[in-house]
Amino acid sequence: MIDYSERIPNNVGLADDRRLQRALENWQPRFQDWWAEMGPEGFQEQDVYLRTAVDVGQEGWAHFDHVRMPEYRWGIFLSDQQPDRRIGFGDNKGRPVWQEVPGEFRTDLRRLIVVQGDTEPASVEPQRHLGATAPSRYDLRNLFQVNVEEGRHLWAMVYLLHGYFGRDGRDEADAMLERHSGDPDEPRILGAFNEKTPDWLSFFMFTYFTDRDGKYQLGALRESAFDPLSRTCDFMLKEEAHHMFVGASGVGRVVQRTAELMREHDTDHVAPHGGVDLATIQRYINCHYSVSMDLFGSERSTNAANYYAAGLKGRFNEDQFDDDHVLTDVEADHLVVGDTGRITTETLPARALVNHALRRDYTEDCAKGVRRWNRTLAEAGVDVEFTLPHEGFNRAVGAFRDHHVSPDGRVLSDAEWEASVGGWLPSDDERAHVGSLMQPQFEPGKMAGWIAPPSRGINTQPVDYEYVKL
Ligand SMILES: [Fe+2]
Ligand SMILES: [Fe+2]
Repeated sequence: MIDYSERIPNNVGLADDRRLQRALENWQPRFQDWWAEMGPEGFQEQDVYLRTAVDVGQEGWAHFDHVRMPEYRWGIFLSDQQPDRRIGFGDNKGRPVWQEVPGEFRTDLRRLIVVQGDTEPASVEPQRHLGATAPSRYDLRNLFQVNVEEGRHLWAMVYLLHGYFGRDGRDEADAMLERHSGDPDEPRILGAFNEKTPDWLSFFMFTYFTDRDGKYQLGALRESAFDPLSRTCDFMLKEEAHHMFVGASGVGRVVQRTAELMREHDTDHVAPHGGVDLATIQRYINCHYSVSMDLFGSERSTNAANYYAAGLKGRFNEDQFDDDHVLTDVEADHLVVGDTGRITTETLPARALVNHALRRDYTEDCAKGVRRWNRTLAEAGVDVEFTLPHEGFNRAVGAFRDHHVSPDGRVLSDAEWEASVGGWLPSDDERAHVGSLMQPQFEPGKMAGWIAPPSRGINTQPVDYEYVKL
């Protein structure tokens, strides 16, 4: 059970570890300063209908109530310890998991936790201006729910740094609040988290594609032999599911509204009628998917192979892979641009391609939502299908980094790329149009004109519920 009588709600017995408790109580006001400075702009005095974790069990883990965001009870929640849990992969497969950090893996584990932790505040910062232009109170509430939970995910990683990495862990925890998204001097660690989230379509794309990278990273870390990391990631994944729902349903509602406007005005070009063209949505998909693919790192990676060998980071749902989970005698394929300038398959030891395995599952997961959006179009009688671009499209990391590849998978010359890229990524005009649609709609139950209402409200409340008291 989670103890809410403590200054820092937790289920890790913080009261019994005075040194750690004091260290985290020291960090707490700095986190609150960060929230005030870099968290959502405005709305800090308003009551927001937010979910708070009250238990880590399978059922009934969440409680919903109106709360002012600065009073949100950020805390430290780990899933229950599994008795006799064993390492599921790598060279130490079958041995008991670790409750403390082994000295030889200290640097690598700290790095993995820092990189994950950095993404959490890094996704809040670019979203801080969005409240002012929310398409409905329902959406405003969802934005803030995602924001407070990303804040809690930072707490999760900071707990591990403070609790298991001593002095340098504390320094890393402080640095989490010193780097800022898009800061020229102290940027966030990963590229996608330094991009702007200027409008709500970008926000929905971010929660669909980039939070989903988070799901896969957390899933890989949930397999970790370092048990406290595994347990904290397991619980974070429960919260993460809602973030991706916000993205999937958000994009779906824009698609639905566009289809309605297309029929109403008998045109593909709904921008003059206050909508977002399907072609624009496709270009946003191309942009956010390709940037998020970079977050998986190089598909061929010695670091990832070492992490796998050591048991630090596995694959998503490791036990569902139909192999030996050791991967010393297993091969795998990935795509590269060959000497002929054509895309070909390269076969390597599977350990070298662990990042690729994780990313391939991510792509399959992304495709499910795209199919759902296409079903919405088909049901509306619109003969257009969205697609995910080829994995080589618009990449800054990995095998395609130095190549231009079209969304349908053709390797292009520089000249061909320059001539066509404008049709594949959102143009400045298009972004400006989407920006111009961002007018707030705060009447309970009403929606801005560019997005359809959700099919239901949050936690069985009606859509017109007062999710934010303004
Ligand atoms: Fe997160
Ligand atoms: Fe998230």
